[in-house]
Amino acid sequence: MACKLQGALISYHSRTTKFIDKKERAASVVARAEITHQTEFPPLSDTYVPPPTPSLIDNNAFETFQGEELPISASGKFGRFGGKFVHEHLVAYFSQLEVEFENALGDHTFQAELAEALRDYAGRETPLYHAQRLSEYYKSRNNGTGPDIYLKREDLNHGGSHKMNNALAQAMIAKRMGCKSVVTATGSGHHGLATAAACAKLALECTVFMAAKDIERQYSNVRLMNLLGAEVEAVDGGFRDAASDAFRCWVGDLENKYHLTGSAVGPHPCPSMVREFQSVIGKETRTQALEKWGGKPDVLVACVGTGSNALGLFHEFVDDEDVRLIGVEGGGLGLESGKHSSTLSKGEVGVYHGAISYLLQDQHGQIIHPHSIAAGMEYPGVGPELSFLKESGRAEFCAATDEEALDAYENLCRLEGIFPSLEAAHALGILEKLAPTLCDGSKVVVNCSGSGDKDASIVFGRRFLEKLRKRVVKTSTT
Ligand SMILES: Cc1ncc(COP(=O)(O)O)c(C=O)c1O
Repeated sequence: MACKLQGALISYHSRTTKFIDKKERAASVVARAEITHQTEFPPLSDTYVPPPTPSLIDNNAFETFQGEELPISASGKFGRFGGKFVHEHLVAYFSQLEVEFENALGDHTFQAELAEALRDYAGRETPLYHAQRLSEYYKSRNNGTGPDIYLKREDLNHGGSHKMNNALAQAMIAKRMGCKSVVTATGSGHHGLATAAACAKLALECTVFMAAKDIERQYSNVRLMNLLGAEVEAVDGGFRDAASDAFRCWVGDLENKYHLTGSAVGPHPCPSMVREFQSVIGKETRTQALEKWGGKPDVLVACVGTGSNALGLFHEFVDDEDVRLIGVEGGGLGLESGKHSSTLSKGEVGVYHGAISYLLQDQHGQIIHPHSIAAGMEYPGVGPELSFLKESGRAEFCAATDEEALDAYENLCRLEGIFPSLEAAHALGILEKLAPTLCDGSKVVVNCSGSGDKDASIVFGRRFLEKLRKRVVKTSTT
């Protein structure tokens, strides 16, 4: 019943705009958030499954949905994916955000301040590191031939991940919009940490919503957020529930709060903003590749939680058709186990958190709980732009299981002395299968999206303590 009501609200589009004052608008939006709170759904979701469109590139400014016109501008669509599936009162907000975003992009002062912050505060550019021993390791298992593997060291950013690129830029936009405080959600804690740091730097208040189970497993990042002055709010469920609660908190005070998304999901312009601010990763990679070997990479590999680090690396190369783009999702306990986060491999198209994209959902359109050993991979959806890259065939997607990610984490520690985050370890986890299929000397760039200090106790517990336990059992039975 509540879902039906919600669907009706979302598809409703009035051609006449009724004026309501600020208080009335906030009350109306909060009331709606409360109605939908009873269900699995956050305020922006629906389970509408759109029919496939004949053309993937749809440049119509308006699309029809069950006979009604929807206010989706062409710039918010990636083929049939994306859009702005929000309550009518929020459409105006997101249109305003789009204007603010475009103004910022065209403003030389903003660009100069951002470039300075990325250089002097975040520590960019990040190195493109030749992982020589890792490359040798895969060559030694394939008659001495194989690719040269390079790591884009996003883990070396201040805050330990690529999330800082976007957090800094959006916090600057929040400031331009006159907001006093920022609300966000985090899974791995990396985006929460980056946002908390950016807010401290720009004198903004910061509230981070995080699933209680993620607070437990990513405790080191929570401690740092707290020291940076952020309030961390615990939420039942997973990252998707934290994302929904952050949204509910924000719609209660649109005037003063800015919702700073770190994921390449949500209603337009959120996915485009995140991708734009992350695209520095691919831009630097192009220049660095040219300097290092005088060409382009042959293959780009990135993990896919929602898509921000993958799009950050891929976007620059989308038109270079000789560059393979490979996204690696969380394979969890295996794709047939039902316990994974492989949205692009196993999901179907639907609407969630304000946009059309691939989703993990059951036959009734209810969202399936995702699973991954990496908190940042555990999301049941994916950014609309990645859905488009999948459907157009431009990018390939596969999955690495929890165990493969753990192996890759240990391997990188021992062969290169680098801790990758468990999220990034998924991208590294497919090298075992990918490397033997590639030409000798081909150039592979893997996005090392984050640092794995936060995951050390998980890996230590799963690998070292389990081995120790087995050894103890063995000796006590002999
Ligand atoms: C270091 C790191 N890499 C990757 C991800 C996955 O997210 P995305 O696909 O948006 O990059 C996260 C998410 O929290 C993360 O912290």
